[in-house]
Amino acid sequence: MVPEIRPGRLILLCGLPRSGKTTLARRLAEEIPAVRLCPDEWLADLGVDLHAVEPRDRLEKLLWRHAQELLRLGQTVILEYGFWSRAEREEMRLGARSLGAAVELRHLAAPLEELHRRLESRNTVGGWGTTAITRDMLDHWATLFEPPTPAEMALFDAPVAGLR
Ligand SMILES: Nc1ncnc2c1ncn2[C@@H]1O[C@H](COP(=O)(O)OP(=O)(O)OP(=O)(O)O)[C@@H](O)[C@H]1O
Ligand SMILES: [Mg+2]
Repeated sequence: MVPEIRPGRLILLCGLPRSGKTTLARRLAEEIPAVRLCPDEWLADLGVDLHAVEPRDRLEKLLWRHAQELLRLGQTVILEYGFWSRAEREEMRLGARSLGAAVELRHLAAPLEELHRRLESRNTVGGWGTTAITRDMLDHWATLFEPPTPAEMALFDAPVAGLR
C-alpha cells in the first residue's frame, strides 16, 4: 500500500540584502527541521556572478520546481529569495496552496541605516561576502522593495507554534 503523505509547509523569507534571511533560515532549518534553498549559495558554488540576472532567474525557477516536489513529499521548505515584490509572493502562496501545503511569509525588516552597517560586516553568511554591494545599490533596492502589509500577511498561515 502506498503510504499517505500530507503536503508540507513553505516558508518564504522576505527582506533586503543583509536583513538576516540566511541567519534565520539556518536556525529554522535545524529547529523544524526543513530544507533551505538559497540561490546565492548555489550561484556562488557554480561560480556565477551573483548580480547576473538571467542565471538567477533560471536557478530560482529550478529551485521552485524542486521545492514543489519536496512539498508534495511532505517536507518543509525555506526559500531565501528575498521576495521584494508582492506578485512574486503571491505566485508562491498560490502555488503552495494548490499542492495543499501551508505557506508562511516572514518579513525581515531592519532600518536602512542598520543594513548599511551590516554591509561592512565581514561575517556575512551566504554567498554575497565577496561580491560588493554598495550603499547606493542598497538605497536603490530599498525603493523597489514592496514591504508586506498587514493585510497581505493575513493571507499566509501562522508560523509553526513555538518557532519565531
Ligand atoms: N537579527 C539580527 N540582528 C543583528 N544582526 C543580524 C541579525 N540577523 C543577521 N544579522 C547579521 O547581519 C548580517 C547579514 O545577515 P544574513 O547574512 O543572515 O542576511 P541575508 O539577508 O541573508 O543577507 P544577504 O542578502 O546578503 O544574503 C550578518 O553579519 C548577520 O550576522
Ligand atoms: Mg543570505
